[in-house]
Amino acid sequence: MTQAPVQSQITAADSSADTELFNLGKFKANADEWAARYAVNKPFPHIVLDDMLQVGPELAEEHFPGPDWPAWRSLGDSYQVKKFTCDDITKIPEQFARLIHELSTPAFLRALEKVTGIPKLLPDPYLAGGGLHLSGPGGILAPHTDFHIYDAMDLYRRVNVLVYLNDGWDESFGGCLEVGDRGKDGALVVPDWGRVMIFTTDDKSVHGFPKPIVEGHWRRSVALYYYTALEAPGFSGDASTHWRDHGTQRGAGRKLRFGLFKFFMQTSRAFSLLAHLSNPNQGMGWWKHRQQRIAENAEEGR
Ligand SMILES: [Fe+2]
Repeated sequence: MTQAPVQSQITAADSSADTELFNLGKFKANADEWAARYAVNKPFPHIVLDDMLQVGPELAEEHFPGPDWPAWRSLGDSYQVKKFTCDDITKIPEQFARLIHELSTPAFLRALEKVTGIPKLLPDPYLAGGGLHLSGPGGILAPHTDFHIYDAMDLYRRVNVLVYLNDGWDESFGGCLEVGDRGKDGALVVPDWGRVMIFTTDDKSVHGFPKPIVEGHWRRSVALYYYTALEAPGFSGDASTHWRDHGTQRGAGRKLRFGLFKFFMQTSRAFSLLAHLSNPNQGMGWWKHRQQRIAENAEEGR
């Protein structure tokens, strides 16, 4: 994809001007059935929905910003190689700002609550970590679990909604979302046009695309995260993204720093558990519930 950045406004001549971009009617009509599937899908609650957009791929071809767009923020770390994001709603092209708005309306939120079984979901007007995502050739997203505590807003992250905007994407292009451990009961989501991946985010929902995107392909998506004002019933993570795969560390300096990183992460996790245990509103009841859930997961072979 080499087209110049385009930020044109929707005009009367635009075929998508009068149509909702997201097929909310279909989402609402199937919410009960999809809720049943969502709850039992392995390795953690999720669902992959096809044909959820009511516009064709030309929308992205014409309006999704190319890699030279000045509003992109390049993440520049080795966990998210060749990844660009934009979470500034004032800079996001009108067409995609509209899609984000549609996925933040009360009607969508109610249906999302039904599908996920998580009540009182809130969208994030600041789109922290979300918004438009673009990953280029060689790009990867290392497997990870998302942060749970959203410090800036005193909210708790509960659900991810990923809308894929790539016409004719094939598994051979790389960049497919790996859900959990594919060797066991994981799944692979090819980021094809109009496909939507919804999943519960907690400290067990490992996801990423470790297989690099091949030359000549750019992976486009809209990523939206939903929160609750109350913490999840059980321990669901802390304020950090936890990367599961760190690649090979070469050189004494990097090995030492990485050893320190692992030590501090384990220590912070232990402190996070202690914080929950010392909370008089959770205490031992929460601990017993957590132990029971871990035992159940072990029984299920997860
Ligand atoms: Fe993530």
